[in-house]
Amino acid sequence: MKIIAQAAPLLSIPTPVLVIGLFAEKALSPRQQEINTALGEVLEQALREQEFSGKPGETLLLHSGKRLPAQRILCVGLGQEKNYSPAQVRQAAASAAELVQKKRIPSLALDLDSFVTSAVALNQAAAAATEGIVLSAYRYDDFRHDTAKDLTPLLREALLIYASAAEQRGVERAVTAAQIVCAGVCLARDLVNAPGNVKSPQDLAERCRIEGEAAGCVCTILHRQALEDEGMGALLSVAQGSMREPCLIILEYRGAGDQAPLALVGKAVVFDSGGISLKPSEKMDEMKMDMAGGAAVLGTITAAARLRLPINLVAIIPAVENLPSGHALRPGDILTSLSQKTIEVLNTDAEGRLILADAITYVQRYQPEAIIDVATLTGAVIIALGHQASAVLGTDQALIDALLTAGDRSNERLWQLPLWDDYDQLIKSDVADIKNSGGRPGGTITGAAFLKAFAGEKPWAHLDIAGTAWEEKGRPGIPKGGSGVGVRLLIDFLQARTKS
Ligand code: BES
Ligand code: MN
Ligand code: ZN
Repeated sequence: MKIIAQAAPLLSIPTPVLVIGLFAEKALSPRQQEINTALGEVLEQALREQEFSGKPGETLLLHSGKRLPAQRILCVGLGQEKNYSPAQVRQAAASAAELVQKKRIPSLALDLDSFVTSAVALNQAAAAATEGIVLSAYRYDDFRHDTAKDLTPLLREALLIYASAAEQRGVERAVTAAQIVCAGVCLARDLVNAPGNVKSPQDLAERCRIEGEAAGCVCTILHRQALEDEGMGALLSVAQGSMREPCLIILEYRGAGDQAPLALVGKAVVFDSGGISLKPSEKMDEMKMDMAGGAAVLGTITAAARLRLPINLVAIIPAVENLPSGHALRPGDILTSLSQKTIEVLNTDAEGRLILADAITYVQRYQPEAIIDVATLTGAVIIALGHQASAVLGTDQALIDALLTAGDRSNERLWQLPLWDDYDQLIKSDVADIKNSGGRPGGTITGAAFLKAFAGEKPWAHLDIAGTAWEEKGRPGIPKGGSGVGVRLLIDFLQARTKS
């Protein structure tokens, strides 16, 4: 997808469709009046007849009948101005792009100035519009032969038009940065959407190496022997039921000399059948998405490196497959983790916390200033928050607050759940130091409480993305399938952290 930002007089642009933003309950701006006049007042007429009210994401497509160099005008709703933020720009741009695509129109021009208010500056509008457009023009079609005939073609080009040539540098920079972030999101989506048969832990490691090195990261992969030498009994136990070899993927990005790095840890279970505690077969296919935390961490560190953020990062991605077999982990087994803590396995389907325990222990040797883990950890988070937000829990309120703010800004929302020590009782074992399941009550919290036992003293936060990593129906800017959630959130978090 080509995004071109161009300072030009709006009404001189020849384009199959010109997208303009309109607020609800607001009179037409002088420039919208100009368009209205050029169109023989049909815009005003449509508003009067209430064919368009300006609700967020609402669209109205008008043909210009050769009265403008633009063949069509596409009005898109921005909602009420008092609720306006970059999230509304993103949503409006995504809705517009989706409609344009559905109509098989190959390119669009967008009136960036109609998205600018006192709350959203031109460069912010440019970034959010880029995100909305690029992320809705995503499709996973690696395995489809019918792309040419049956599927609607994806948008190929978008022009972002604005008046003030003086702001060219800022706008272009914002668009370039947004495209880098979107590439990270789409990389995460591609990996999540890939079927289990083409993403063994080793395949994933290879992809991480290729993508990481291309972005300027250093990649190290620990294979079975190294994991055994280290003593990663928890990670290895999950992998033992699968023929596929586990690994620990390490990516490092240095953008800030000798500073302590921030650690990102991402769960990557390439397929989670539950193991001996087998999951029901309905929708088990979706468990290929159980590596979405790892994918988000990869998308984040590669984007951060391409953006040259002034920060050091270390990403740890434990990669395994959770299958039942004659070699598989059993309920009742007791493991010795890398931390030397022993773990009683009550449920082999609570495998994410086992591999994360060793990964979180391992990352301590980098002496990180803080640790953030990202994981599709519990079904319980879907019961608690639905598919509209990820859960955040942790040991450091300042870190959690910064993540919550990034969640609001990126619209990859987070909601904090408590992590009082009282919950630790639920994962006390009679026979080992800790057990891997606290049962159904507070499932997301006891999952986090388990991880807390391995997190050490430094600020740590856990993101449970089990409800947000997979989009079932499709919404503006998030087609069905892997959502790539976490990448925009974490990049926003890192950008804010490096500014303060
Ligand atoms: N990968 C699952 C969690 C999950 C559920 C992700 C639904 C995405 C959608 C995780 O490994 C799991 O199975 N968790 C168990 C934990 C329980 C056994 C303590 C769960 O949530 O049921
Ligand atoms: Mn599981
Ligand atoms: Zn899992």
